[in-house]
Amino acid sequence: MIERSKELFERGKKVMPGGVNSPVRAFGSVDAPPRFIERAVGNKIYDVDGNEYLDYIGSWGPMILGHNDPIVLAEVTKACTKGLSFGACTEPEVKLAELICENIPHVEMIRMVNSGTEAVMSAIRAARGFTGRSKIIKFVGCYHGHSDSLLVKAGSGAMTFGDPDSAGVTKGAAEDTLLASYNNLDSVENLFKEHKNKVACLIVEPVAANMGVVPPAEGFLEGLRQLCDENGALLIFDEVITGFRLAFGGAAEFFGVRPDLVTYGKIIGAGMPVGAYGGRRDIMECVSPLGKVYQAGTLSGNPIAMTAGIAMITQLLNDKSVYEKINSLGLHLAEGLKETGYTVNNVGSLTSIFYTEEKVESYDDAIKADTRLFSKVFAGLLEAGIYVAPSQFESLFVNTCFTVDEIDYTINTYKKLLK
Ligand SMILES: Cc1ncc(COP(=O)(O)O)c(C=O)c1O
Repeated sequence: MIERSKELFERGKKVMPGGVNSPVRAFGSVDAPPRFIERAVGNKIYDVDGNEYLDYIGSWGPMILGHNDPIVLAEVTKACTKGLSFGACTEPEVKLAELICENIPHVEMIRMVNSGTEAVMSAIRAARGFTGRSKIIKFVGCYHGHSDSLLVKAGSGAMTFGDPDSAGVTKGAAEDTLLASYNNLDSVENLFKEHKNKVACLIVEPVAANMGVVPPAEGFLEGLRQLCDENGALLIFDEVITGFRLAFGGAAEFFGVRPDLVTYGKIIGAGMPVGAYGGRRDIMECVSPLGKVYQAGTLSGNPIAMTAGIAMITQLLNDKSVYEKINSLGLHLAEGLKETGYTVNNVGSLTSIFYTEEKVESYDDAIKADTRLFSKVFAGLLEAGIYVAPSQFESLFVNTCFTVDEIDYTINTYKKLLK
């Protein structure tokens, strides 16, 4: 029964565009109405009609320790009694920044913001301010939030200037964004040649996770590092999904490639509205009030969000078995899903099943997947109490609260639905 969810959706549609505050939540591309969530604990999420689901979204990644982790909850509850927001300097923001800078070698300085979108937008401004150049390179199919210059359409193979991907984004805002093909170093090299000495930075999801999970090909990230160095451009890893998840030091540590700047999202606030960008000291020293790159925020470094982040990140730092656990659960899920005969990509605790039998190594491969079949399977999974992202082009996220039995149940449900 999902009567209450349906009723709330109808009410929501009258007062919010599409009934939601973020488009994918409307379940527009699947054959099911959205579930309204009331509460969550560990790896389970409960809707307003009292249905329980195994949660493979985990608030889109950050719940590495599961929902309502008792230590995070206790610390946040304590912090709330002291006041919710001051718009002033606080101890927790210094502590969280120290925790990160002292333990991730490529993050020498960091600035807290409020979302992944804001982190990326600000990192790009810093890169442009530092280099004095305008152009940026991004990859078709990589998502970096909804700021104007990153919301550009994939040109059909011809990697030229970007076209706005949304009404309201001007040609001017998008024209400095150059599009390359993920896992294709030649496409990057060509852009650098064509726009010599004009490219400020290249931004990449080191593991693409917004076209479904697509791992970097062998040598791809190293090749990007080299091309950036040869062309005087900064390399930015967008670790909104991979940061603290693949390893404490994110994809940079996992693959052993050092970016100049890195962006984080919800993960560093244990799921609260947080983001951050950081990296080389000489670049970060360009940020206001030290330097001329302006960037600010009333809510940035909010004490409750910082406290949540400290409570989660301290646990990730002190208990390295977290990564062994989630990576082995992720692998178990991926190996099981492969038995359906469809293509499965996996890196650590990130997994995608694509409804195609061909390899998926690029955006062009990913969009060949059968999205009608995805939609059918999605509805069947929900019926069986399994909550996955309502899009073919997202990841399944596991956290430390999953058991092997629950993953086996998930695999068997997929197999039944795909028979
Ligand atoms: C890689 C990546 N970058 C940036 C963002 C934007 O983050 P936010 O939704 O917090 O603005 C996302 C969102 O999931 C993302 O996956």
